[in-house]
Amino acid sequence: ETVEWEAASYDMGGHDTYMHKEISEQPDAVDRVLRGRIDDRFSTVHLGGLNLDPREARTIRRIKILGCGTSYHAGLIGASLIEGMARIPADAEPASEFRYRNPVVDPDTLYIAVSQSGETYDVLAAVQELKRKGARVLGVVNVVGSAIAREADGGVYVHAGPEVCVVSTKCFTNTVVAFALLALHLGRIRDLSVTDGKRIIEGLRKLPAQIEEILKTEDEIKSIAAEYAGAQSMMFIGRVRGYPVALEASLKLKEISYIHAEAYPASELKHGPLALIEPALPTVAIVPDDDLLEKNRAALEEIKARSGRILAVAHQPQAKADHTIVVPKNEDELDPILMGIPLQLFAYHTALAMGRDIDKPRNLAKSVTVE
Ligand code: AGP
Repeated sequence: ETVEWEAASYDMGGHDTYMHKEISEQPDAVDRVLRGRIDDRFSTVHLGGLNLDPREARTIRRIKILGCGTSYHAGLIGASLIEGMARIPADAEPASEFRYRNPVVDPDTLYIAVSQSGETYDVLAAVQELKRKGARVLGVVNVVGSAIAREADGGVYVHAGPEVCVVSTKCFTNTVVAFALLALHLGRIRDLSVTDGKRIIEGLRKLPAQIEEILKTEDEIKSIAAEYAGAQSMMFIGRVRGYPVALEASLKLKEISYIHAEAYPASELKHGPLALIEPALPTVAIVPDDDLLEKNRAALEEIKARSGRILAVAHQPQAKADHTIVVPKNEDELDPILMGIPLQLFAYHTALAMGRDIDKPRNLAKSVTVE
């Protein structure tokens, strides 16, 4: 009976796992986070629950984003979107690290708490501590009415819909899109031009169809995953915008396949991890077609010179890579949103090939409500 009840309330919609269902739902989920928020007339977005008027928005000197795990990674991309579009210095930090280092709480800093569940203890405690010290805190949260959403002064709902699988996929993507909306909103209040506003809006509108295109390459990703499934360990590299994508992809792989994985900024390779490169340690490289393309290609050459196997996620096939997953190009700022998606499928098929319990990885809970 219990099984029937569960099946009825959390329909898998023909998918074998919730993770697969949730990865597949991303075109609709992204459509939802955009819906009703774009204002073409002023090339901006409206965010109903933000509670931040334009005058206040102009006085922000700094933005600090706090979250854990995947939400922290989404926050890293969020920080670069905000810094890039709104030209406000922004960074992200794991919420627990922030809380334990007795941080200076500055009245000109806007704090943003990121959480899928809205119940993660470390994030909630950081929000409460910040509020006690008089800071303004916004939430970028998925679960409506959750503890973090209630504690925050305002925020942006992510509208990813219910996420059942322990590992986060669609919520990560939607959180990054929500940050792009916030960055555009703040940017247009500050110095972002109408032309750039339009450009970003066009890019945002392309996302659902481009995600659909990526999902169509699943069979190819599955056969690539089969070749890497036996690895003991994997390296993930990215540069600037690509680095948080590498961090998130490596987390996804380790959570569900139990393959050891670590992520490095591509430029840090030569400062140590290059010593690890050999045929048995494959590298996944994020190689967007942007102003850093040549630099990223140079990193691939360094790896190839040490006989390392390379899987590139790029906008065009990479000569030095053993495999390239080609993704559609968007605006440079929005590329990280798309580049993470094939690596969700890569982690999924690697773990599946290894016979792992995808939806309930060992030792993990969907939301960590204890310290
Ligand atoms: C995601 O795949 C993880 N299982 C985990 O890192 C998660 O993102 C983290 O615990 C934060 O959860 P939250 O977004 O609900 O706050």
